Amino acid sequence: MSDRYLDLATSTVGQRLVGALGLPTPVRLERWQSGRMHPVDGALLLGGASLAASLADGWQRLSDQGFASEAGRFDLPVWDPEQGPALKALLFDASALSRSEDLDQLRRFFQPALRHLTQCPHLVILGRPPESLADPMAASTQAALEGFSRSLAKELGQGGTLQLLYVDAGAEDQLEGALRFFLSPKSAYVSGQVLRLRACAARVADWTRPLAGRRALVTGASRGIGAAIAETLARDGAEVWLLDVPQASDALQALAARLGGHPIALDISAADAPQQLLQALPQPLDILVHNAGITRDKTLKNMDDSLWNSVLAINLQAPLRLTEALLDGGGLADHARLVLIASISGIAGNAGQTNYAASKAGLIGLARAWAPSLANRGISINAVAPGFIETAMTATIPFALREAGRRMNSLGQGGVPQDVAETVAWLAQPGSGAVSGQVLRVCGQSLLGA
Ligand SMILES: NC(=O)c1ccc[n+]([C@@H]2O[C@H](COP(=O)([O-])OP(=O)(O)OC[C@H]3O[C@@H](n4cnc5c(N)ncnc54)[C@H](O)[C@@H]3O)[C@@H](O)[C@H]2O)c1
Repeated sequence: MSDRYLDLATSTVGQRLVGALGLPTPVRLERWQSGRMHPVDGALLLGGASLAASLADGWQRLSDQGFASEAGRFDLPVWDPEQGPALKALLFDASALSRSEDLDQLRRFFQPALRHLTQCPHLVILGRPPESLADPMAASTQAALEGFSRSLAKELGQGGTLQLLYVDAGAEDQLEGALRFFLSPKSAYVSGQVLRLRACAARVADWTRPLAGRRALVTGASRGIGAAIAETLARDGAEVWLLDVPQASDALQALAARLGGHPIALDISAADAPQQLLQALPQPLDILVHNAGITRDKTLKNMDDSLWNSVLAINLQAPLRLTEALLDGGGLADHARLVLIASISGIAGNAGQTNYAASKAGLIGLARAWAPSLANRGISINAVAPGFIETAMTATIPFALREAGRRMNSLGQGGVPQDVAETVAWLAQPGSGAVSGQVLRVCGQSLLGA
C-alpha cells in the first residue's frame, strides 16, 4: 500500500511545506536494481586498520571510486573534504582499537565525512567480538563500538544506514559477501544492527548469481514478503519451490510459472503437512525459508482458543515440525541455509499480540537453540525480524497505529517486501554460513525493542 506522507514529503511542493512545518522528512530509499555492477554506486571511503587489509585487492569489486582517510593506505588516493567527491559509503575498521582513548579515532574518521554524504549512504564499522578478547580493556573498547554505531545510525538522516560487524578471527574472508549486502541498497531498510561473522568454508562462486544451483523452498510465497523472497532467490539463481495454502493456488501458480519454479499447495498446519512436503520435494533443499505467518490480534483478556491456537500452530509449531521432518527425512542438504521470518513484535512485544509475539519470539529462540547442533552439518539458521513492512498484513492495521508503526524508526517510513527479501537472499548465500543463531532486524532501526 502506498505511503502518502512519503509521497508528499518527497514531492517538490511537499518538501517545502513539510520543512516549513518542521515535520520529519523521510527520503525515498534507493533500492537495488537488477543488472547493477557495483554494490556501491559512488565513492567509498576506507579507514582504520587490519581487517580491511583483507579487502586490499577486493575493494574494487565494491566500488569503482575508492579513497582512503589517510595517506599510504590501500594504495588509494586520500579523500579531501574540501575537494570531495561526496561519499556513498564509509567503511571503518575499528578492530585494532584496544583502549578507550583509541575510540577517538572513530570521531576523527566519521566527523569530516558526515558533512559530505550523498543521499542514502551506507556505513559499516568492523570490530572483533568483545567476548573473544582476553584483555578486559580491549573487550570494553570493542563493546563500546555498539553504543557508538547504534547512536550514529540514529543521527544519519537522509536515508543513511549504519551497521557494526564483529568479525571473528578466521572470518575475514567472508567480509566481501557481508559488505556487498551492507554497503549496497540491498540493505536499504536495515540499520543499527550488530552482527557476528564466524569462519565459514563455503564460498560464493559467482557474485552475479550467488545462489546458482541451489534449491530453495519459501512458505507463504503467493503474496507479500514471501512472493518477494521467492522472486529474489530466483533472481540470484536459485530453483524455487513456492508453498502456500490451497486457497492461494491461482496466485501461487502464476508466480511459480513466472519464476520457472514449482508450486506446492499445502496448509503447513495440517497434521500430515511434513509427510506431504517431503513427498513434494524431489531432492534435498539448500535453502529453507519459513515465511508463512498470520496475525489474529486481541488483548489476552479477549483471546479465545482459536485465535491463540491458530497463530501458534502456523507461526511456530509448523516451522518446527516441518524442519524436524526435513532434517530426519533427508530433506535438507549439508550446508543448507535456514531462515525464519520472525518480527520485531517478538522482540519488543505488542499490545494485542501476545499470541503473535510469543510465536515470533519462539522462532528467534529456535534459531538460537538449533544453531550449534546444525553447525555440525555446516547448516546455518537465523531469524529475520521485519519491522513495519508495507503489505496486505499491515494494511489491515488501524490508521493511527499504522502511521506510528511506519514513522517510529530512524528512516521515518515503512519498508517494502524487497527489503526483507534481499536480507533473506544474503543469508541464503553459501558464505553466509558465517552468520548463524542470530537475529537480523529489517526495521529501519525501529524504536520498538531497540
Ligand atoms: N508485513 C509486516 O510488516 C511484517 C512484519 C513483521 C513480520 N512479518 C512476517 O512476515 C511474514 C510474511 O508476512 P506478509 O506481510 O507478507 O503477510 P501476508 O499475509 O501478506 O502473507 C502471508 C502468506 O502466508 C500464507 N499462509 C498463511 N497461513 C498459511 C498456512 N497455514 N500454510 C501455508 N501458507 C500460509 C498466506 O496465504 C500468505 O500468502 C509473516 O510471517 C509475518 O508474520 C510481517
